[in-house]
Amino acid sequence: MLERGCAERSEQRRTASVETEPRRPSWNIRSEEVAQLAVVGAGYVGLVTAACLAELGHRVTCIEIDAGRLTALEAGRMPIHEPGLAELVSENSRNGRLRFTGNFANISDITSVFIAVPTPSAEDGAADVSFVREAVELLVQHARPGLLVIMKSTVPVGTSDAIAKLPAVLDAGIEVVSNPEFLRQGTALQDFLHPDRVVIGAESAEAMGRVARIYASLEAPIVAVDRRSAELAKYTANALLATRISFMNEISHIAMAVNADIDDVARIVGMDRRIGPAFLRSGLGWGGSCFPKDVLALTSAAARYGCETPILRAAYEINQLQREYAAQLLIDALHGIDDPIVAVLGAAFKPNTDDVRGSPALTIAKRLLGNGVTVRIHDPFALANASDIVAEIDCRPDAYSALEGADALLLATEWEEYERLDWTLVRETMRGKTVVDGRNVLNGVHLTELGFHYKSFGRPAHNGNGNGTHHHTNGSAPHIAGTSME
Ligand code: UGA
Repeated sequence: MLERGCAERSEQRRTASVETEPRRPSWNIRSEEVAQLAVVGAGYVGLVTAACLAELGHRVTCIEIDAGRLTALEAGRMPIHEPGLAELVSENSRNGRLRFTGNFANISDITSVFIAVPTPSAEDGAADVSFVREAVELLVQHARPGLLVIMKSTVPVGTSDAIAKLPAVLDAGIEVVSNPEFLRQGTALQDFLHPDRVVIGAESAEAMGRVARIYASLEAPIVAVDRRSAELAKYTANALLATRISFMNEISHIAMAVNADIDDVARIVGMDRRIGPAFLRSGLGWGGSCFPKDVLALTSAAARYGCETPILRAAYEINQLQREYAAQLLIDALHGIDDPIVAVLGAAFKPNTDDVRGSPALTIAKRLLGNGVTVRIHDPFALANASDIVAEIDCRPDAYSALEGADALLLATEWEEYERLDWTLVRETMRGKTVVDGRNVLNGVHLTELGFHYKSFGRPAHNGNGNGTHHHTNGSAPHIAGTSME
């Protein structure tokens, strides 16, 4: 079984790497003024930034120091799954506007460099900016005077100021600008090319103007601020969105306790123009490389400045609790079953990406494995990445194969294909009847009619939800302090 899983994983890697999109979206946004740009880093943000800047008409050199990733890109293979990206990279590489290199010496003709390297969480939760520092050190060695360094990486407030004051940076005549990115994985091209706003934090009008001209062809307001405000705005946006979700997840427990419908509650409050409908969906909560890392980093930075952050802490803890709650629902449902099997549908932290960083699916899978449960997992694109993180998971090439003989199913990522499953067939092939809908997307009434025990995150009994008997039967509120599942 293990060998089969590995073969499937490498097959999936291969498929992801030659991914092509059926049709090329037409953006048709060309800049009148062509700039010579570089982007350091070809990850989710860097590669999208490089491809989209080329799409705007600029000449872009994307610098990637990971040899494997660079070779793949040079050969036209995508290292990540992002809808539309393969097409955009391939077309802009063909027309010469986008090229890849591993060598910083190739930036001698570049006027502005975007830094888009990761800033992962350090052990204490603070953002680790060592990749940013390394990139700046290398840039300084090859920069031409007047180079603009544009910070796209999410960095703690004050990082751009600190870099701007480095003697080597001052000596090289480099100016530093903060230009945070607000794109979401899965809709990254749309978000980059049709942003709600372009934020530019700069200390001089000249630098501000140069960055604004790069984006001139986008129909978006330019928000000109100082570097620190730009940096803090980026953290605030992510922390606020994460908090909204955690808040709704807290309400979802109340909804279950009083037999109200969280979907209706979200719809009603979202119709208030002061609130808006986005990011009110309850379920397993937020994952990814951004929300968890940024909430922790903001909490940690605030503590260093002596600021209390009880809201951020609660948002984080509630998010952990959702995973604990889902794992417990499954463990309760498996009670008394010998050699229980759980099928997890979806490994990515959200649909339309192969990214599994911070994925609730994997946290819950680990917890189940630790309880002696066999965990099978399916994901259309993220299986290879999932098995790199949790090797004990039994990777399955399709959802039906994961579900066959399973005692319970957890829908962890709302890929569209899961909503279209033949549930009558699933009911016949599963050994057990438990369905935990971690994203509140399945038709609970239909599943209940088919004989499933449907459990959701805040839907009422008349919509099929059967959490009631398991839900805090002692009547106490969920315990959040000290919950830690990572
Ligand atoms: C997030 C922000 O939305 C972007 O604006 C930002 O640029 C990015 O982080 C970043 O800092 O790089 P992303 O992590 O790609 O984007 O994905 P989101 O769409 O924000 O989803 C984050 C998580 O929240 C996912 O796990 C998703 O399933 C969850 N979510 C989202 C909910 O649980 N409920 C919702 O209503 C919405």
